[in-house]
Amino acid sequence: MSHFNPHDKYFKKAKEEGYRARSAFKLEGIQNRFHLIKPGTKLLDLGAAPGSFMQYAAKEVGEKGLVAGIDLQKIEPFKEGNIHTFQGDIFDEESVVEIFNRLKIKQFDLITSDLAPKTTGIKSIDGNASLELNLQVLKIAQKHLKKGGGVVMKILSGFNEGDLVGETRKLFKQVKKYRPEAIRKSSHESYLIGLKKC
Ligand SMILES: C[S@@+](CC[C@H](N)C(=O)[O-])C[C@H]1O[C@@H](n2cnc3c(N)ncnc32)[C@H](O)[C@@H]1O
Repeated sequence: MSHFNPHDKYFKKAKEEGYRARSAFKLEGIQNRFHLIKPGTKLLDLGAAPGSFMQYAAKEVGEKGLVAGIDLQKIEPFKEGNIHTFQGDIFDEESVVEIFNRLKIKQFDLITSDLAPKTTGIKSIDGNASLELNLQVLKIAQKHLKKGGGVVMKILSGFNEGDLVGETRKLFKQVKKYRPEAIRKSSHESYLIGLKKC
């Protein structure tokens, strides 16, 4: 994550621009390519801590939009009024329902997920854990994402990818894979983007 290499270009840029992690530039790369976040967008960020996706998204959605983020870990509060943070497990229905009760909204326009399992280094175990997380993201999207909305999911490229693409196709008209420049060369990460929820 963000603190590995202080000489990394995006690490420096994150520090300069006040982001909590360099991941902000992954979402920026996705936004520059797909323009999914619009002024007024209501965005749900899954696996949001420490919060750099939310910081970037909050600027893009503006005052009329909102960004809600949930993570197992506590997310330190933000000064931005359009960011709402929650602590909880995405597999726990009550934690997810609390988001809607507190924000008093029915559905989101966009769901982003940078969810990452605790990795073991064993590819098959990590790949399966990542798949489970993403299948849960799709479940949440099925229920809580507006028709026509989009989803962005972090994937570990190559592992169970076909299974996830198949499941995503059932729910979205278009499915694309994208690897923003800010992903480290050595990483197997990529993002799967579902566009236009059916
Ligand atoms: C790579 S970090 C996210 C970084 C974030 N996008 C940012 O820009 O600051 C992945 C996060 O997924 C969270 N996570 C993993 N499993 C989760 C679960 N079941 N429910 C909620 N959060 C989870 C982890 O706690 C971790 O903070």
